[in-house]
Amino acid sequence: MFPKNFLWGGATAANQCEGAYLEDGKGLDIQDVTPKGIVGPRTEVPTEDNMKLVAIDFYHRYKEDIKLFAEMGFKVFRLSIAWSRIFPMGDEEQPNEKGLAFYDAVFDECHKYGIEPLVTISHYETPLHLSKEYDGWVNRKMIGFYEKYVRTIFGRYKEKVKYWLTFNEINSVLHEPFLSGGIYTEKEKLSRQDLYQAVHHELVASALATKIAHEMMPEAKIGCMVLNIPIYPLTPHPDDMIEVMERRHMNDFFLDVHVRGRYPGYMKRYFKEHKIQVQFAPEDEEILKHTVDFISFSYYMSICASADPDQGEAGRGNLMGGVMNPYLEASEWGWQIDPKGLRYALNEMYDRYQKPLFIVENGLGAVDELVEGKDGKLTVEDDYRIAYLKEHLLQVEEAIEDGVEIMGYTSWGCIDLVSASTAELRKRYGYIYVDRNDDGTGTLNRYKKKSFYWYQKVIESNGEILHQELK
Ligand code: BG6
Repeated sequence: MFPKNFLWGGATAANQCEGAYLEDGKGLDIQDVTPKGIVGPRTEVPTEDNMKLVAIDFYHRYKEDIKLFAEMGFKVFRLSIAWSRIFPMGDEEQPNEKGLAFYDAVFDECHKYGIEPLVTISHYETPLHLSKEYDGWVNRKMIGFYEKYVRTIFGRYKEKVKYWLTFNEINSVLHEPFLSGGIYTEKEKLSRQDLYQAVHHELVASALATKIAHEMMPEAKIGCMVLNIPIYPLTPHPDDMIEVMERRHMNDFFLDVHVRGRYPGYMKRYFKEHKIQVQFAPEDEEILKHTVDFISFSYYMSICASADPDQGEAGRGNLMGGVMNPYLEASEWGWQIDPKGLRYALNEMYDRYQKPLFIVENGLGAVDELVEGKDGKLTVEDDYRIAYLKEHLLQVEEAIEDGVEIMGYTSWGCIDLVSASTAELRKRYGYIYVDRNDDGTGTLNRYKKKSFYWYQKVIESNGEILHQELK
């Protein structure tokens, strides 16, 4: 059974839904020059084919959208603050008042309906100037810019926001240094030394934000956020198991530091073997001791690992590589669907850390078709999405029965938005369909999908209806 105070809701990120990329003093961010997402090259200046420049125009339509979330019964809404709305360049002294006022209005609108905002401080949207001028998180100065930004938003919103996340999928910087870490140097040219120095700076910044949050907002809860893709051995061969262990260490590293407050031993070995010397400033060790209140993560899929590079078919469509699991089906984008992997991930993290967990992303990216419903209104018959979410939520409930402490669940892209990996709009996750297409056409009108009414009932019954047959 789901606990009474379970936080049901949905999740978005500023760069994938707001649009208005230059309005009210916003500066450019790295998303404004990546028209094709991580699968394509970046551009010097924003180009018209970049769907994120308009996105779904949440900037002007947030009232209508939050009203729809309220109609579904959301208790929580995860969104990010676009750093470049608050500090357009990133390194200036004074924040942009119009940017601050926008989020005041958004949070007020949430509270009007009793919805708690859950805010990601940095979600793949580093100000472009910080990326180009400083090479993003490779540069230690980023800690200071981030600190100024968090002090500004904590001070401004401390009465309105109780739940905070420091960085979206912080571990993804290992795979996508530009997207995740704002590192302008091309991935192929970036040394492991610089990459891990950047990781260190982000970890220190995250711990510093945690420290400041605890000082400025004693009632607030602040968590870290990681990309969680469980890795299974392709075979029971001990070498495959060791391969899994070593790959897992690369991810566990981020949670170990956030929760235990220090670098784990296996990283010391890794650094030694790869001749990496992470520079610690004198204060870093102390700062890292400020550990998070909860752990949040995204979960979409699992993968397999093999020690033998000739075994298995290469995994598709996710940041981490790996090989395909012969027992699982995949989405249209090649992400292998594994509801039980979510129960496994929840148990495994809880056993390791005994910290409350928050599932802040999960969902199915699919092509939807807008059709006329029985009542004559336009809708999407997205039974495939309902089936996906139902199976995952049943596994969340299993984990609760296993004794795992879970704060809530915000499915990804509760309203259709632009994809992070491919920058497409046709990869839709929402309960709400947005009439906007990849060629820039569409009215931007919103339509309730079948899943809208289904999720409404899930929330209303606090998960009870998950046990009923789907109609
Ligand atoms: C997560 C990101 O990795 O996955 C989101 O935090 C992203 O920003 C989501 O949108 C789904 O990925 P995609 O590529 O389908 O949008």
